[in-house]
Amino acid sequence: MNIIFLGPPGAGKGTQAKRLETRYGITQISTGDMLRAEVKAGSEIGQEAKALMDAGKLVPDSIIVSMLEARIQKPDCGKGFILDGFPRTVAQAEALDIVLQRLGRKIDVVLMLEVDENALADRVAGRFSCAKCGASYNDVSKPTAVGGTCDLCGSHDFVRRADDDRETVTSRLAAYRKETLPLLPYYEERVTVSFIDGMAPIDEVSKQIDSTMMEIE
Ligand code: AP5
Ligand code: ZN
Repeated sequence: MNIIFLGPPGAGKGTQAKRLETRYGITQISTGDMLRAEVKAGSEIGQEAKALMDAGKLVPDSIIVSMLEARIQKPDCGKGFILDGFPRTVAQAEALDIVLQRLGRKIDVVLMLEVDENALADRVAGRFSCAKCGASYNDVSKPTAVGGTCDLCGSHDFVRRADDDRETVTSRLAAYRKETLPLLPYYEERVTVSFIDGMAPIDEVSKQIDSTMMEIE
């Protein structure tokens, strides 16, 4: 099963992709996470991407496509993959089609997470994670226990993403509207696109996704 998640910043793509990964034994591929790892490692790609990411702009297609092409061919993607944050431009979608055709694979479904834009900045600005184990938290929907301890590993160190301030979220949303929204008609012409109400509580969103998956399996 190969899935694409579409939706604006903060729609819940990463949250739901992780749940699907556990339920279906397929691999989440987040180009945002891959880029953040490159930035942390100080690699050439990371150095080129950092300023763009911090400004809420997209990283050039050429960098992303070659990263994705290599990632998708790793053994852990054999059973299937969930693309979270890719493709983000029509050029990336076209490049993906070529790669998949060459590999004899295809996209089974596109899940479009629909959310009210006014809710996005609050969600994103509230997000933080454990610096040690990466567990996700949110000031509003999933705070830590009193005293600020990670439930999973007991650490007291937490980090916020450099691009999660409200001003950068506005730029990320502008990039989404201009570059990524045109992917909706692109996929509607080619594969099953399922619209999910991303404003519902997290468990409710997962249930909607489960029903969609049952229909297409
Ligand atoms: P990326 O890391 O992909 O960020 P994004 O698309 O902006 O998405 P987010 O991770 O912010 O949101 P999400 O939808 O995953 O939401 P989440 O589940 O975390 O990209 C970052 C940057 O990298 C880009 O700006 C760009 O520069 C670059 N980049 C990456 N891919 C690229 C590409 N293909 N091409 C070019 N450049 C690329 O949820 C957010 C918060 O809300 C969490 O705290 C969560 O707990 C909470 N939440 C989730 N669901 C709900 C719910 N239903 N109700 C209440 N709260 C919820
Ligand atoms: Zn932790």
